[in-house]
Amino acid sequence: MALSPAPRPVILDGDPGHDDAVNILLAHAAPELEVLGVSTTYGNVGLERTTRNALVTLELIGARTPVYAGADRPLLAARLSAESVHGQTGLDGPLLPSPAREAQELHAALFIIQEVRARPHQVTLLPTGPLTNLALALRLAPDIAPLIKQIVWMGGSLDVGNWTPAAEFNALCDPHAAQIVFSSGVPLVMFGLNATHQAIATPQRIAAIRALSGRQGGSDVGEVVAGLLEFFAEHHRVRYGWDGGPLHDPLTCAYLLAPELFVTQPMYAEVDTSGGPSSGRTNCDLWNLTGNVPNAEVALQVDADGFYELLTERLGRF
Ligand code: BDR
Ligand code: CA
Repeated sequence: MALSPAPRPVILDGDPGHDDAVNILLAHAAPELEVLGVSTTYGNVGLERTTRNALVTLELIGARTPVYAGADRPLLAARLSAESVHGQTGLDGPLLPSPAREAQELHAALFIIQEVRARPHQVTLLPTGPLTNLALALRLAPDIAPLIKQIVWMGGSLDVGNWTPAAEFNALCDPHAAQIVFSSGVPLVMFGLNATHQAIATPQRIAAIRALSGRQGGSDVGEVVAGLLEFFAEHHRVRYGWDGGPLHDPLTCAYLLAPELFVTQPMYAEVDTSGGPSSGRTNCDLWNLTGNVPNAEVALQVDADGFYELLTERLGRF
């Protein structure tokens, strides 16, 4: 009998957030992955809340994965937050358990450095928020850049933004940090809005997830995720007239589990740090107009049905 390969070590760095929380759940339903830790940053809401939300999400599935709090603000920019999308708690919507644990003492950036050094060329980072923790780690310990296997980030956009006409929220939160990551030489995959907006959590897709809890022996997870997605849908109905919210962040984890669901293209990309009206824009050189060597694999297409099948099947494992 063929042995299955060793699980791939990953660190989930995010700002939960509805879609970050679903990414945490998906990663924990994947025997292909070994989640070394969940690190948190300010972003959708303040750091204290995102850290609590990471603990709440893990509590829901009884996971004891360590949580590390990181940056509470960007490197230089003024701090933004997205209560208008995620509610005051950052995870508004369903009834959630209270966390029985606390975050570790170690700062998220130091945790990332520690794990990358301990497992050279093995650790994949899955950031789903502003890139401040990663930038801090790369600045504190430049030696880790060649030792990181890959970064798969949700952020940026090949075309328009969602927080300004030019910029996506995670990129806009800390453009300088994002540019440090983009210029680090670490293999980078970018799931920008042009890709994530293809993965809308429609009422039918939410109903399939809710039905997981109705099955014999089904856990609460389907019901809770359905509640999260229904809350998340509201902002997107009002702002864009869509039939639900795009599940941005879980595409990072899904990319590791089923890369065949995605079309990506290597290209040169850099982040506008000018402070002007396009600040935070990820300038992606689709047609190689600059002639620069590609530094990012940019997602272009998502098989949305395939993604929701994967997600629903995996959530059904809890
Ligand atoms: C990104 O911003 C946050 O609101 C979401 O969690 C996602 O990571 C989308 O722009
Ligand atoms: Ca996020």
